[in-house]
Amino acid sequence: GRTGVGRAHGKAILLGEHAVVYGAPALAVPLPRLTVTARATRLPSPADGVSFAMARPASAPVRLRAADGLRRLAAEFAAMTGVRERMGAEVLIDCAVPHGRGLGSSAACARAAVLAFADLFDRRLDAGEVFDLVQTSERMAHGRASGIDALATGSSVPLLFRSGTARELRIGFDGLFVIADSGTSGSTRDAVELVRRRFERAPGTRASFVDRVADLTDAAARDLTDGRAADFGARLTDNHALLRDVGVSTDRIDALVDAALAAGALGAKISGGGLGGCAVALAADPDRAHAVERDLHDAGAARTWIVPAGRYAAHA
Ligand code: MEV
Repeated sequence: GRTGVGRAHGKAILLGEHAVVYGAPALAVPLPRLTVTARATRLPSPADGVSFAMARPASAPVRLRAADGLRRLAAEFAAMTGVRERMGAEVLIDCAVPHGRGLGSSAACARAAVLAFADLFDRRLDAGEVFDLVQTSERMAHGRASGIDALATGSSVPLLFRSGTARELRIGFDGLFVIADSGTSGSTRDAVELVRRRFERAPGTRASFVDRVADLTDAAARDLTDGRAADFGARLTDNHALLRDVGVSTDRIDALVDAALAAGALGAKISGGGLGGCAVALAADPDRAHAVERDLHDAGAARTWIVPAGRYAAHA
């Protein structure tokens, strides 16, 4: 039978994670090389429902949680498009985004699946419908989801996200982002919950965290587009301190941040939900990026990726 195909990719948050859940802006870059492809085929009988399989190994809890979110997504898709009576499908997801690293694997899988369904059932979905469907799955995967991952995993340019909408940004400097996987996975759901409980216990901390991150992120977005790499880097490091204080960093991530700064990065921080996952650093030029990368490995990074900012430049 016919196969519906959908694609999406990973993302890295540069500033604003966690605060974005409470209305602050956040800044994310797409990672187009970390691709996700979903292939949907019809099952002989609609009674077979929708089943999901991962083409690459994932841990059992990841598989289960993803399947829950994606099944809900399939039901919403059916309700939205009226294909309910014909909705027997099997979806195979090939996800190159590592799971639990804050790189958007859950949103990217959901987005790819939505687009594969739409393709298989010949339904045109507008951007808002795709967003709503991805968010359905994201809310199952990690409770309160701001929506930044749902958008950034489908964007080809950096985004400044604020309360459900995003502005496209172009980067005005030549640095290189170095992303380092700490080698431990962190649950975004647990991290978001930890922050919520912390704010509940000490209500004053919420406003000060959210306001300070919002100011940093807005200023960083101006540095980014105006080409002030050093200032942008300093804001990354400032944002890390706030995230560490709120409790979502780990010793390993702190060690990666320290190593990147000691190697001459312009700035470094945790990226994404935290409690594991990744750190991101900004290096001024390729030589520095390689030095940072080497020291990140020495400090325990399991994997690193170098993403030239020029890839998102105005002329790119
Ligand atoms: C996850 O990539 C970013 C968080 O802010 C959660 C969210 O915005 O949904 C931690």
